Amino acid sequence: MKVAIFGTGYVGLVTGTCLAEIGHEVTCVDVDEAKVEALRAGRVPIYEPGLEPLVASNMEGGRLRFTNDARPAIEANEIVFIAVGTPPDEDGSADLKYVLEVARTIGRYMAGRTVVVNKSTVPVGTARLVHDAIGAELSARGVAHDFEVVSNPEFLKEGSAVKDCMHPDRIVIGAEKASSFEKLRRLYAPFVRNRERFVEMDVTSAELTKYAANALLATKISFMNEVANIAERVGADIEMVRKGIGSDPRIGWHFIYPGAGYGGSCFPKDVQALARTAQKLGMHPELLEAVASVNVRQKRHLYELVERHYGASPTGKTFAVWGLAFKPDTDDMREAASRQLLEQLWGAGARVRAYDPEAMAETRRIYGVRDDLVLCESAAAALEGCDALVIVTEWREFRSPDLELMRARIRDRVIFDGRNIYDPAEIEDGGIAYYGIGRGRSIGSRTA
Ligand code: UDX
Repeated sequence: MKVAIFGTGYVGLVTGTCLAEIGHEVTCVDVDEAKVEALRAGRVPIYEPGLEPLVASNMEGGRLRFTNDARPAIEANEIVFIAVGTPPDEDGSADLKYVLEVARTIGRYMAGRTVVVNKSTVPVGTARLVHDAIGAELSARGVAHDFEVVSNPEFLKEGSAVKDCMHPDRIVIGAEKASSFEKLRRLYAPFVRNRERFVEMDVTSAELTKYAANALLATKISFMNEVANIAERVGADIEMVRKGIGSDPRIGWHFIYPGAGYGGSCFPKDVQALARTAQKLGMHPELLEAVASVNVRQKRHLYELVERHYGASPTGKTFAVWGLAFKPDTDDMREAASRQLLEQLWGAGARVRAYDPEAMAETRRIYGVRDDLVLCESAAAALEGCDALVIVTEWREFRSPDLELMRARIRDRVIFDGRNIYDPAEIEDGGIAYYGIGRGRSIGSRTA
């Protein structure tokens, strides 16, 4: 089938590439000329495991193209995806300006029967706005083409986006017309062996499904972070509690890891946007508001542990910071907990020696060159001349601690572990004070 995709961010690029991989003819459209040029040269602007070779082979195979030119892409394709960004605007609502701009462009050039597929995460009711925007352009042109705006939310996780796209656990399709369902089922058929993976519903329910999924996952995390803070005070270890509850299939093992707070381009934004939707309807979304505010507080928690250890602001201290990306296997630092920490450390007059396997360039882009930030080439290099170590992202390479090196290099012999990747007893037996998230009993109990 022939498909056009507007927006070559995470969602658009991954979806387009995977659709090409299963044999469709895909044209990716972006207004950013430099981005399109880079993609044509085989340079993928994001770090996503497995994506770059897949882009290259599908371009070579002639199934994947990149262009700035919207018109031919719309005219030639029966299925047009909208996968542009929806950044939060000032009050936390999703800003639809890019989505609606693409809608108007589609209306301007539509040349025949078209299914417009909304993949961007948009507030409930957006399909209608997109429909009206396209309709207005068509009537201004004095033409009437048969089209439907369908909602088909994505559930890709950064770091495993290609895998998630090729092996989806479900494909949610919100539409009205039987012909639209049929077309999308045909489009996605190679991804799903099991037809039950298609979940078909009305457009509005599909739009809400995406928010419900992300908000529930964020709720699990904030819940665990809150219990972790209780554990810290009462002297329990949240990691034991986690193990004690995860085996209950009604609770499950996923998304019950306490930590330095959730980040990324989805959870913070989506929780806020869903709360805004409810508020606009005159409701008071108490739970969603609490999920968001617990997370804001949690992102400050690592720094609080630092202050608790030193009994004062860590002015003049140098901190090794391991992990800057909002989670492992990505270079994305949007809403990352590391940013809160760095800014608090700098605010207190401390210095930072930072290392992340992928996000160094991104850190430089965000913070530029500054005296109190040294970007280091390795985790070990970051420890040189540091007073303390803070772990913010649980990259695999941080998981087996070299205790001897740590003891030799960390002057104040203290580790703040924002993802609970270490065994407190092992670190403390190695002569280093240990602070985790929600691990009350262990905190500094033997060495501090
Ligand atoms: C998320 C959803 O998982 C995905 O389905 C949706 O399409 C987009 O949003 P993503 O933002 O890539 O994906 O990241 P995810 O792996 O879900 O992690 C989000 C954040 O939660 C990270 O900062 C992570 O560190 C944190 N997290 C996750 C926890 O703190 N504890 C957990 O148990 C799980």
